[in-house]
Amino acid sequence: MSQLQPARGTRDIYGPEAELFRSVDSRAYEISKLYGFAAISTPIFEFKDVFHRTLGETSDVVSKETYTFTDRGGEEVTLRPEGTAGIARSFISEGMAQNLPLKFYYSGPMFRYERPQKGRYRQFHQLGVESLGSESPLADIEVIALGWQIISELGLSQFCQVELNTLGDQESRQNYRQKLVEYLTPYRSQLSADSQARFEKNPMRILDSKDEGDKKILQQAPLYSQCLTEASVAFFAKIQSGLKQLGIPFSINEKLVRGLDYYCHTVFEFTSNHLGAQSAVLAGGRYDGLIEMMGGPKTPGVGWAAGIERLCLLAQETIKINPPALIAILPAEERAEGYTLKLTQELRANHLACELLTSGNMGKKMKRANKIGATTAIIIGGSELDRGVATVKNFATGEQKELPLADLVNTLKRG
Ligand code: HAM
Repeated sequence: MSQLQPARGTRDIYGPEAELFRSVDSRAYEISKLYGFAAISTPIFEFKDVFHRTLGETSDVVSKETYTFTDRGGEEVTLRPEGTAGIARSFISEGMAQNLPLKFYYSGPMFRYERPQKGRYRQFHQLGVESLGSESPLADIEVIALGWQIISELGLSQFCQVELNTLGDQESRQNYRQKLVEYLTPYRSQLSADSQARFEKNPMRILDSKDEGDKKILQQAPLYSQCLTEASVAFFAKIQSGLKQLGIPFSINEKLVRGLDYYCHTVFEFTSNHLGAQSAVLAGGRYDGLIEMMGGPKTPGVGWAAGIERLCLLAQETIKINPPALIAILPAEERAEGYTLKLTQELRANHLACELLTSGNMGKKMKRANKIGATTAIIIGGSELDRGVATVKNFATGEQKELPLADLVNTLKRG
Protein backbone atom coordinates (compact mmCIF):
# COMPACT_ATOMS: atom_id res chain seq x y z
CA MET A 1 0.00 0.00 0.00
CA SER A 2 2.64 2.52 -1.04
CA GLN A 3 -0.03 5.25 -1.34
CA LEU A 4 -0.36 5.14 2.44
CA GLN A 5 3.26 6.18 2.96
CA PRO A 6 4.06 9.87 3.18
CA ALA A 7 5.32 11.10 -0.23
CA ARG A 8 9.11 10.96 -0.66
CA GLY A 9 10.83 13.81 1.14
CA THR A 10 7.82 14.58 3.38
CA ARG A 11 7.36 13.59 7.02
CA ASP A 12 4.79 13.41 9.76
CA ILE A 13 5.86 15.47 12.75
CA TYR A 14 4.34 14.41 16.05
CA GLY A 15 5.13 13.55 19.66
CA PRO A 16 8.20 15.18 21.27
CA GLU A 17 9.47 16.39 17.87
CA ALA A 18 6.25 18.32 17.28
CA GLU A 19 6.60 19.91 20.74
CA LEU A 20 10.18 20.87 19.94
CA PHE A 21 9.10 22.35 16.58
CA ARG A 22 6.51 24.59 18.21
CA SER A 23 8.84 25.58 20.98
CA VAL A 24 11.65 26.56 18.57
CA ASP A 25 9.23 28.61 16.45
CA SER A 26 7.66 30.41 19.40
CA ARG A 27 11.00 31.14 21.09
CA ALA A 28 12.36 32.56 17.82
CA TYR A 29 9.22 34.69 17.42
CA GLU A 30 9.42 36.02 20.99
CA ILE A 31 13.06 37.03 20.48
CA SER A 32 12.26 38.60 17.07
CA LYS A 33 9.61 40.78 18.75
CA LEU A 34 12.37 42.25 20.96
CA TYR A 35 13.91 43.56 17.75
CA GLY A 36 10.61 44.99 16.49
CA PHE A 37 9.72 42.21 14.03
CA ALA A 38 6.00 41.52 13.56
CA ALA A 39 4.33 38.38 12.26
CA ILE A 40 3.39 37.98 8.61
CA SER A 41 1.87 35.00 6.86
CA THR A 42 1.82 34.83 3.08
CA PRO A 43 0.23 32.12 0.89
CA ILE A 44 1.88 28.75 0.43
CA PHE A 45 1.46 29.09 -3.33
CA GLU A 46 1.91 32.10 -5.59
CA PHE A 47 1.84 32.76 -9.32
CA LYS A 48 4.86 31.06 -10.85
CA ASP A 49 6.58 34.34 -11.78
CA VAL A 50 6.85 35.44 -8.16
CA PHE A 51 9.58 32.84 -7.72
CA HIS A 52 10.79 32.11 -11.22
CA ARG A 53 11.72 35.67 -12.10
CA THR A 54 13.18 36.61 -8.75
CA LEU A 55 15.23 33.65 -7.58
CA GLY A 56 16.92 33.31 -10.99
CA GLU A 57 16.03 30.95 -13.84
CA THR A 58 19.49 29.38 -13.56
CA SER A 59 19.37 28.86 -9.79
CA ASP A 60 18.95 25.22 -8.73
CA VAL A 61 15.81 26.12 -6.82
CA VAL A 62 14.05 27.38 -9.95
CA SER A 63 15.60 25.20 -12.65
CA LYS A 64 15.22 21.88 -10.83
CA GLU A 65 13.34 22.15 -7.59
CA THR A 66 10.06 24.04 -7.80
CA TYR A 67 6.69 22.36 -7.61
CA THR A 68 4.96 24.26 -10.39
CA PHE A 69 1.62 23.23 -11.85
CA THR A 70 -1.33 24.55 -13.77
CA ASP A 71 -4.42 24.82 -11.60
CA ARG A 72 -7.94 24.08 -12.75
CA GLY A 73 -8.38 27.66 -13.90
CA GLY A 74 -5.32 27.42 -16.14
CA GLU A 75 -3.05 29.56 -13.89
CA GLU A 76 0.55 28.47 -13.45
CA VAL A 77 1.28 28.43 -9.75
CA THR A 78 4.28 27.41 -7.66
CA LEU A 79 4.44 26.03 -4.13
CA ARG A 80 6.71 28.45 -2.32
CA PRO A 81 10.33 27.22 -2.15
CA GLU A 82 11.25 30.07 0.21
CA GLY A 83 9.64 33.04 1.94
CA THR A 84 11.40 36.19 0.74
CA ALA A 85 9.88 36.51 -2.75
CA GLY A 86 6.34 36.03 -1.38
CA ILE A 87 6.90 38.75 1.22
CA ALA A 88 8.27 41.08 -1.48
CA ARG A 89 5.16 40.34 -3.56
CA SER A 90 2.96 41.05 -0.56
CA PHE A 91 4.83 44.31 0.13
CA ILE A 92 4.02 45.47 -3.40
CA SER A 93 0.46 44.21 -3.72
CA GLU A 94 -0.57 45.43 -0.25
CA GLY A 95 0.96 48.87 -0.94
CA MET A 96 3.16 48.81 2.14
CA ALA A 97 5.71 51.30 0.80
CA GLN A 98 4.11 54.11 2.83
CA ASN A 99 4.99 52.48 6.11
CA LEU A 100 8.71 51.87 5.83
CA PRO A 101 10.78 50.61 7.52
CA LEU A 102 9.02 47.29 8.10
CA LYS A 103 10.23 44.18 9.86
CA PHE A 104 8.56 40.81 9.43
CA TYR A 105 8.83 37.41 11.10
CA TYR A 106 7.39 34.34 9.39
CA SER A 107 7.41 30.60 9.67
CA GLY A 108 5.86 27.75 7.76
CA PRO A 109 6.31 24.99 5.19
CA MET A 110 8.40 25.41 2.03
CA PHE A 111 8.67 23.03 -0.92
CA ARG A 112 11.68 22.03 -3.00
CA TYR A 113 12.02 18.97 -5.20
CA GLU A 114 15.44 17.98 -3.81
CA ARG A 115 17.08 14.61 -3.25
CA PRO A 116 16.05 13.80 0.32
CA GLN A 117 18.74 13.11 2.93
CA LYS A 118 19.34 13.85 6.61
CA GLY A 119 18.18 17.43 7.21
CA ARG A 120 16.96 17.85 3.62
CA TYR A 121 13.33 17.33 2.68
CA ARG A 122 10.93 18.19 -0.10
CA GLN A 123 8.50 19.73 2.35
CA PHE A 124 10.49 21.44 5.06
CA HIS A 125 9.87 24.36 7.41
CA GLN A 126 11.57 27.68 7.73
CA LEU A 127 11.37 30.47 10.22
CA GLY A 128 12.74 33.73 8.96
CA VAL A 129 12.88 37.50 9.16
CA GLU A 130 12.87 40.25 6.54
CA SER A 131 13.82 43.84 7.30
CA LEU A 132 12.58 46.17 4.57
CA GLY A 133 13.41 49.80 3.87
CA SER A 134 16.82 50.33 5.43
CA GLU A 135 19.96 50.84 3.36
CA SER A 136 22.09 51.10 6.47
CA PRO A 137 24.57 48.34 7.38
CA LEU A 138 22.98 48.57 10.83
CA ALA A 139 20.01 46.64 9.42
CA ASP A 140 22.32 43.80 8.31
CA ILE A 141 24.01 43.82 11.71
CA GLU A 142 20.63 43.78 13.43
CA VAL A 143 19.30 40.74 11.55
CA ILE A 144 22.54 38.82 12.06
CA ALA A 145 22.49 39.72 15.77
CA LEU A 146 18.90 38.51 15.97
CA GLY A 147 19.84 35.20 14.31
CA TRP A 148 22.72 34.81 16.71
CA GLN A 149 20.55 35.54 19.76
CA ILE A 150 18.03 32.92 18.62
CA ILE A 151 20.79 30.37 18.03
CA SER A 152 22.32 31.21 21.41
CA GLU A 153 19.05 31.04 23.34
CA LEU A 154 18.33 27.65 21.78
CA GLY A 155 21.68 26.58 23.25
CA LEU A 156 23.17 26.07 19.78
CA SER A 157 25.94 28.67 19.60
CA GLN A 158 28.47 26.00 20.55
CA PHE A 159 27.47 24.01 17.43
CA CYS A 160 27.35 26.90 14.93
CA GLN A 161 29.71 29.22 13.10
CA VAL A 162 28.77 32.45 11.34
CA GLU A 163 30.24 32.73 7.84
CA LEU A 164 30.11 36.08 6.11
CA ASN A 165 30.85 37.44 2.66
CA THR A 166 29.95 40.35 0.43
CA LEU A 167 28.82 40.35 -3.17
CA GLY A 168 29.15 44.13 -3.32
CA ASP A 169 26.99 46.49 -5.31
CA GLN A 170 25.85 46.22 -8.91
CA GLU A 171 29.12 47.63 -10.24
CA SER A 172 31.22 45.15 -8.21
CA ARG A 173 29.06 42.36 -9.52
CA GLN A 174 29.56 43.42 -13.12
CA ASN A 175 33.33 43.78 -12.60
CA TYR A 176 33.50 40.33 -11.16
CA ARG A 177 31.29 38.77 -13.77
CA GLN A 178 33.56 40.12 -16.49
CA LYS A 179 36.73 38.88 -14.78
CA LEU A 180 35.21 35.46 -14.20
CA VAL A 181 34.05 35.09 -17.80
CA GLU A 182 37.53 36.08 -19.03
CA TYR A 183 39.06 33.49 -16.74
CA LEU A 184 36.60 30.70 -17.65
CA THR A 185 36.48 31.24 -21.42
CA PRO A 186 39.50 29.02 -22.24
CA TYR A 187 37.99 26.24 -20.07
CA ARG A 188 34.47 26.57 -21.43
CA SER A 189 34.32 23.22 -23.22
CA GLN A 190 35.76 21.40 -20.18
CA LEU A 191 33.04 22.63 -17.80
CA SER A 192 30.15 20.38 -16.73
CA ALA A 193 26.97 20.55 -18.80
CA ASP A 194 25.20 22.50 -16.02
CA SER A 195 27.98 25.05 -15.85
CA GLN A 196 28.13 25.42 -19.63
CA ALA A 197 24.42 26.18 -19.59
CA ARG A 198 25.06 28.87 -16.95
CA PHE A 199 27.99 30.41 -18.79
CA GLU A 200 25.86 32.80 -20.81
CA LYS A 201 22.97 33.44 -18.48
CA ASN A 202 24.63 33.62 -15.10
CA PRO A 203 28.31 32.65 -14.95
CA MET A 204 28.50 33.47 -11.24
CA ARG A 205 26.34 30.44 -10.51
CA ILE A 206 29.24 28.30 -11.77
CA LEU A 207 30.99 29.13 -8.48
CA ASP A 208 28.36 27.03 -6.72
CA SER A 209 29.07 23.95 -8.85
CA LYS A 210 29.48 20.66 -7.01
CA ASP A 211 31.18 19.05 -10.04
CA GLU A 212 34.76 17.98 -9.21
CA GLY A 213 36.10 19.02 -12.64
CA ASP A 214 34.50 22.46 -12.30
CA LYS A 215 35.88 22.82 -8.78
CA LYS A 216 39.41 22.18 -10.06
CA ILE A 217 39.05 24.80 -12.76
CA LEU A 218 37.65 27.24 -10.19
CA GLN A 219 40.59 26.86 -7.83
CA GLN A 220 42.51 29.60 -9.63
CA ALA A 221 39.45 31.73 -10.43
CA PRO A 222 39.64 35.44 -9.54
CA LEU A 223 38.34 36.30 -6.08
CA TYR A 224 35.32 38.47 -5.57
CA SER A 225 37.18 40.65 -3.11
CA GLN A 226 39.47 41.86 -5.92
CA CYS A 227 36.52 43.32 -7.84
CA LEU A 228 34.67 45.21 -5.09
CA THR A 229 34.09 48.93 -5.44
CA GLU A 230 35.33 51.22 -2.67
CA ALA A 231 31.78 51.82 -1.47
CA SER A 232 31.16 48.07 -1.21
CA VAL A 233 34.37 47.54 0.75
CA ALA A 234 33.37 50.33 3.14
CA PHE A 235 29.86 48.88 3.60
CA PHE A 236 31.28 45.46 4.39
CA ALA A 237 33.83 46.94 6.81
CA LYS A 238 30.99 48.56 8.80
CA ILE A 239 29.21 45.22 9.10
CA GLN A 240 32.32 43.51 10.35
CA SER A 241 33.06 46.20 12.89
CA GLY A 242 29.44 46.17 14.14
CA LEU A 243 29.50 42.42 14.64
CA LYS A 244 32.82 42.70 16.47
CA GLN A 245 31.36 45.38 18.75
CA LEU A 246 28.49 43.05 19.58
CA GLY A 247 30.86 40.17 20.26
CA ILE A 248 29.34 37.98 17.54
CA PRO A 249 32.01 35.58 16.28
CA PHE A 250 32.26 35.25 12.49
CA SER A 251 34.66 34.29 9.77
CA ILE A 252 34.90 35.51 6.19
CA ASN A 253 34.23 32.88 3.54
CA GLU A 254 35.07 34.35 0.15
CA LYS A 255 33.49 31.37 -1.60
CA LEU A 256 30.07 32.05 -0.09
CA VAL A 257 27.88 33.27 -2.98
CA ARG A 258 24.47 31.76 -2.02
CA GLY A 259 22.19 29.93 -4.41
CA LEU A 260 19.57 32.61 -5.10
CA ASP A 261 20.01 35.48 -7.54
CA TYR A 262 18.52 38.34 -5.56
CA TYR A 263 21.46 39.02 -3.24
CA CYS A 264 23.85 41.98 -3.16
CA HIS A 265 26.32 43.20 -0.52
CA THR A 266 26.10 41.07 2.61
CA VAL A 267 25.55 37.31 2.47
CA PHE A 268 25.88 34.98 5.45
CA GLU A 269 25.33 31.45 6.61
CA PHE A 270 25.26 29.97 10.09
CA THR A 271 26.69 26.50 9.58
CA SER A 272 27.14 23.50 11.83
CA ASN A 273 29.31 20.43 11.42
CA HIS A 274 26.85 18.43 13.53
CA LEU A 275 24.38 18.07 10.66
CA GLY A 276 26.18 15.91 8.12
CA ALA A 277 26.24 17.11 4.52
CA GLN A 278 23.49 19.72 5.03
CA SER A 279 25.50 22.13 7.15
CA ALA A 280 23.55 25.40 6.70
CA VAL A 281 21.20 26.08 9.59
CA LEU A 282 20.36 29.72 8.92
CA ALA A 283 21.18 31.72 5.82
CA GLY A 284 20.41 35.02 4.18
CA GLY A 285 21.66 38.37 3.02
CA ARG A 286 20.82 41.75 1.51
CA TYR A 287 18.52 42.01 -1.52
CA ASP A 288 18.28 45.69 -2.43
CA GLY A 289 17.12 45.12 -6.02
CA LEU A 290 14.45 42.48 -5.45
CA ILE A 291 11.33 44.58 -4.88
CA GLU A 292 12.15 46.91 -7.76
CA MET A 293 12.82 43.94 -10.04
CA MET A 294 9.33 42.67 -9.20
CA GLY A 295 7.79 45.98 -10.26
CA GLY A 296 7.62 47.71 -6.88
CA PRO A 297 9.28 50.91 -5.65
CA LYS A 298 13.04 50.75 -5.04
CA THR A 299 13.19 49.30 -1.54
CA PRO A 300 16.24 47.82 0.15
CA GLY A 301 15.91 44.65 2.20
CA VAL A 302 17.90 42.22 4.28
CA GLY A 303 16.88 39.01 6.02
CA TRP A 304 17.45 35.34 6.61
CA ALA A 305 15.67 32.03 7.03
CA ALA A 306 16.52 29.02 9.18
CA GLY A 307 15.49 25.42 8.56
CA ILE A 308 13.34 24.40 11.54
CA GLU A 309 14.10 20.69 10.99
CA ARG A 310 17.80 21.51 11.18
CA LEU A 311 17.37 23.69 14.27
CA CYS A 312 15.45 20.82 15.89
CA LEU A 313 18.09 18.22 14.97
CA LEU A 314 20.58 20.33 16.90
CA ALA A 315 18.21 21.45 19.66
CA GLN A 316 17.07 17.98 20.67
CA GLU A 317 20.22 17.82 22.79
CA THR A 318 19.90 21.28 24.28
CA ILE A 319 16.19 21.92 24.83
CA LYS A 320 14.20 20.05 27.40
CA ILE A 321 10.51 20.58 27.09
CA ASN A 322 8.69 20.14 30.34
CA PRO A 323 5.03 19.32 29.86
CA PRO A 324 2.72 21.30 32.17
CA ALA A 325 1.95 19.64 35.51
CA LEU A 326 -0.94 17.29 34.76
CA ILE A 327 -3.72 16.41 37.17
CA ALA A 328 -5.50 13.07 36.71
CA ILE A 329 -9.09 12.94 37.90
CA LEU A 330 -10.38 9.49 38.78
CA PRO A 331 -14.07 9.06 39.52
CA ALA A 332 -14.26 5.98 41.77
CA GLU A 333 -17.84 5.18 40.80
CA GLU A 334 -20.43 6.24 38.28
CA ARG A 335 -22.24 8.47 40.78
CA ALA A 336 -19.16 10.76 40.92
CA GLU A 337 -18.75 11.14 37.15
CA GLY A 338 -20.97 14.20 36.80
CA TYR A 339 -19.12 16.01 39.56
CA THR A 340 -15.68 15.12 38.17
CA LEU A 341 -16.72 16.27 34.71
CA LYS A 342 -17.55 19.72 36.13
CA LEU A 343 -14.31 19.72 38.11
CA THR A 344 -12.22 19.19 34.93
CA GLN A 345 -13.98 22.12 33.33
CA GLU A 346 -13.26 24.34 36.33
CA LEU A 347 -9.61 23.30 36.49
CA ARG A 348 -9.12 23.98 32.77
CA ALA A 349 -10.88 27.33 33.12
CA ASN A 350 -8.21 28.10 35.73
CA HIS A 351 -5.48 27.01 33.28
CA LEU A 352 -4.62 23.80 35.10
CA ALA A 353 -4.05 20.82 32.79
CA CYS A 354 -6.11 17.76 33.66
CA GLU A 355 -7.37 14.47 32.26
CA LEU A 356 -10.54 12.71 33.30
CA LEU A 357 -9.89 8.96 33.47
CA THR A 358 -13.09 6.96 33.25
CA SER A 359 -12.26 3.56 31.78
CA GLY A 360 -11.31 0.45 33.73
CA ASN A 361 -11.19 -0.24 37.45
CA MET A 362 -9.32 1.92 39.95
CA GLY A 363 -6.07 -0.06 39.46
CA LYS A 364 -6.18 0.53 35.72
CA LYS A 365 -6.97 4.21 36.17
CA MET A 366 -4.00 4.63 38.52
CA LYS A 367 -1.71 2.93 35.99
CA ARG A 368 -3.01 5.22 33.25
CA ALA A 369 -2.48 8.29 35.47
CA ASN A 370 1.15 7.22 35.87
CA LYS A 371 1.56 6.56 32.18
CA ILE A 372 0.38 10.00 31.09
CA GLY A 373 2.84 11.57 33.55
CA ALA A 374 0.28 12.99 35.99
CA THR A 375 1.82 14.75 38.97
CA THR A 376 -1.34 14.49 41.06
CA ALA A 377 -4.35 12.16 41.15
CA ILE A 378 -7.72 13.24 42.49
CA ILE A 379 -9.97 10.39 43.47
CA ILE A 380 -13.63 11.07 44.07
CA GLY A 381 -16.20 8.38 44.88
CA GLY A 382 -19.73 8.47 46.30
CA SER A 383 -18.55 8.51 49.92
CA GLU A 384 -16.13 11.40 49.23
CA LEU A 385 -18.94 13.30 47.55
CA ASP A 386 -21.20 12.77 50.57
CA ARG A 387 -18.49 14.06 52.89
CA GLY A 388 -17.55 16.96 50.55
CA VAL A 389 -13.92 15.85 50.15
CA ALA A 390 -11.56 14.40 47.53
CA THR A 391 -8.60 12.06 48.01
CA VAL A 392 -5.54 13.76 46.55
CA LYS A 393 -2.39 11.77 45.82
CA ASN A 394 0.91 13.47 45.05
CA PHE A 395 2.86 11.12 42.76
CA ALA A 396 6.22 12.78 43.43
CA THR A 397 6.09 12.31 47.23
CA GLY A 398 3.63 9.42 47.36
CA GLU A 399 1.70 11.44 49.99
CA GLN A 400 -2.08 11.01 50.02
CA LYS A 401 -4.59 13.20 51.88
CA GLU A 402 -8.19 14.30 51.86
CA LEU A 403 -8.98 17.88 50.86
CA PRO A 404 -12.32 19.71 51.03
CA LEU A 405 -14.00 19.97 47.63
CA ALA A 406 -14.99 23.56 48.34
CA ASP A 407 -11.47 24.95 47.92
CA LEU A 408 -9.91 22.12 45.89
CA VAL A 409 -9.33 24.27 42.79
CA ASN A 410 -7.67 27.04 44.80
CA THR A 411 -5.46 24.55 46.65
CA LEU A 412 -4.37 22.97 43.35
CA LYS A 413 -3.74 26.41 41.83
CA ARG A 414 -1.35 27.20 44.65
CA GLY A 415 0.48 24.00 43.61
P1 HAM B 1 18.08 29.21 1.70
O1 HAM B 1 19.55 29.20 1.98
O2 HAM B 1 17.64 28.64 0.42
O3 HAM B 1 17.63 30.72 1.84
O4 HAM B 1 17.34 28.46 2.87
C1 HAM B 1 17.49 28.87 4.22
C2 HAM B 1 17.57 27.65 5.13
O5 HAM B 1 16.45 26.78 4.92
C3 HAM B 1 18.78 26.75 4.88
O6 HAM B 1 19.93 27.26 5.52
C4 HAM B 1 18.31 25.46 5.52
O7 HAM B 1 18.48 25.50 6.93
C5 HAM B 1 16.82 25.44 5.20
N1 HAM B 1 16.55 24.59 4.02
C6 HAM B 1 16.66 24.91 2.72
N2 HAM B 1 16.30 23.86 1.93
C7 HAM B 1 15.96 22.85 2.76
C8 HAM B 1 15.48 21.51 2.57
N3 HAM B 1 15.27 21.00 1.36
N4 HAM B 1 15.24 20.75 3.67
C9 HAM B 1 15.41 21.26 4.93
N5 HAM B 1 15.85 22.53 5.16
C10 HAM B 1 16.11 23.31 4.11
C11 HAM B 1 16.34 31.16 1.66
O8 HAM B 1 15.38 30.43 1.60
C12 HAM B 1 16.21 32.66 1.66
N6 HAM B 1 14.79 33.00 1.45
C13 HAM B 1 16.72 33.24 2.97
C14 HAM B 1 16.59 34.72 3.04
C15 HAM B 1 15.64 35.41 3.68
N7 HAM B 1 17.35 35.59 2.42
C16 HAM B 1 16.93 36.81 2.68
N8 HAM B 1 15.87 36.71 3.43
